[in-house]
Amino acid sequence: MKVHVFTYGCQMNENDTEIAKQLLANAGFEIVPSEDEADIVILNTCAVRKKSEEKVYSHIGKLRKKHKKIGIMGCVAEKEKENLFKRGVSFVVGTRALNRIPEAVRNSKNGNKLIFLEDTLNEVEYQNIETRSSKHHAWITVIYGCNRFCTYCIVPYTRGREKSRPINEVLTEVEALADRGYKEFTFLGQNVDAYGKDSEDGASLAKLLSEASRVENVKRLWFLTSYPSDFSLEIPQVMNQSEKIARSIHLPVQHGSNRILKAMNRRYSREEYIELINNIRSILPDVSISSDIIVGFPGETDEDFEETVALVEKMQFERLNLAIYSPREGTVAWKYLKDDVLHEEKVRRMSFLLNLQKRINRELNESYQGREVEVIVESSAKNGLFYGRDVRNKIISFNGSEELIGKSVLVRIEKISAGPLFGVITKTLDI
Ligand code: SAH
Ligand code: SF4
Ligand code: F3S
Repeated sequence: MKVHVFTYGCQMNENDTEIAKQLLANAGFEIVPSEDEADIVILNTCAVRKKSEEKVYSHIGKLRKKHKKIGIMGCVAEKEKENLFKRGVSFVVGTRALNRIPEAVRNSKNGNKLIFLEDTLNEVEYQNIETRSSKHHAWITVIYGCNRFCTYCIVPYTRGREKSRPINEVLTEVEALADRGYKEFTFLGQNVDAYGKDSEDGASLAKLLSEASRVENVKRLWFLTSYPSDFSLEIPQVMNQSEKIARSIHLPVQHGSNRILKAMNRRYSREEYIELINNIRSILPDVSISSDIIVGFPGETDEDFEETVALVEKMQFERLNLAIYSPREGTVAWKYLKDDVLHEEKVRRMSFLLNLQKRINRELNESYQGREVEVIVESSAKNGLFYGRDVRNKIISFNGSEELIGKSVLVRIEKISAGPLFGVITKTLDI
């Protein structure tokens, strides 16, 4: 049977798709690159905003028209469970039941409706996952779930409570992949700073970064996503000790007003966030800090929004992901807080911040003009150019070739924009 897996959502879903594909391949199924060739299509889904969920439903509709068998995994599977059968899908596999995917596919033949929601994560043999989307960079989920319960967020309901993987198991995975030629690794967690706090093996994110940086052939390490009040200053200290840890921290603030931060149940104040960033920058002056912000949270007044604007001006983030508040069923904000900011006002605030951040990006990017930076070549882009990232997570575009993918090159920056930088390769560092 031919199976296609399509991924929506975050990097953790990308990693889960890689694992699902390996499990399916081990069980003898053929993985095909397009849904048209497939007998069964598995959608790995995201529920973070209403729109993310709606995309899944319209995809299910299209697949039904094509008479495909459909399986659902990921966050919508966990959120909607058996409700999804009404939409004509054959099976539903929850976020922790990954290991049941081959069984679900196998048994979906005879028109059964199957649902798997139990936690089978301990059974996954991570070091043997060869079906990675890249040949040089690997996602590695190190902690599942989230205990933070921000009032707007569905993730704690779809990913469950925090559960760290043993540090030895993660390091074995890094070593196995490094032996196979992988150079870049991103450690993933919805709250990656909580890594190790629920286990007794002495693990912490700082320790993991420090030990992984000593693995032979590892070139660059990343981690996502940090939570301000769980973030330890040991991290920038460890980063200072190893050139292999990327100078990039994604530290979402979500809002600039203390009143709204409180209503969001983010457990820090604006002042504490600013102090944290200042402390990080005093240890690592050249670090790139990026963030996420939600606009139009219930009760957000003009004054609250102005506080976000002022914070964005002050923090000079290297990148900002902006989202319009979307009420999610079952969350505290959905139950108790009225979605009372007019849609037009939400859109206005969002585009105001977009323009502000664009200006900041352009100004920050100016400092790159004429510089030479080391880039790991990632892929080709639609415009025929190739691109990669430097150690500060800047996307840099240049004329390249397929053989350079996964290699390190020096690029001299010749043109900047508010988005990517453009340059020419001056040297290939590894042949
Ligand atoms: N664990 C990460 C983020 C996970 S969700 C953290 O704590 O920051 C990714 C981003 O989606 C969040 O940072 C938030 O900005 C956005 N988001 C989450 N729920 C949302 C909602 N209900 N409406 C709009 N944006 C939301
Ligand atoms: Fe969601 Fe908050 Fe957890 Fe991030 S920290 S996943 S925003 S509940
Ligand atoms: Fe979406 Fe689930 Fe990731 S809701 S953002 S796929 S954790």
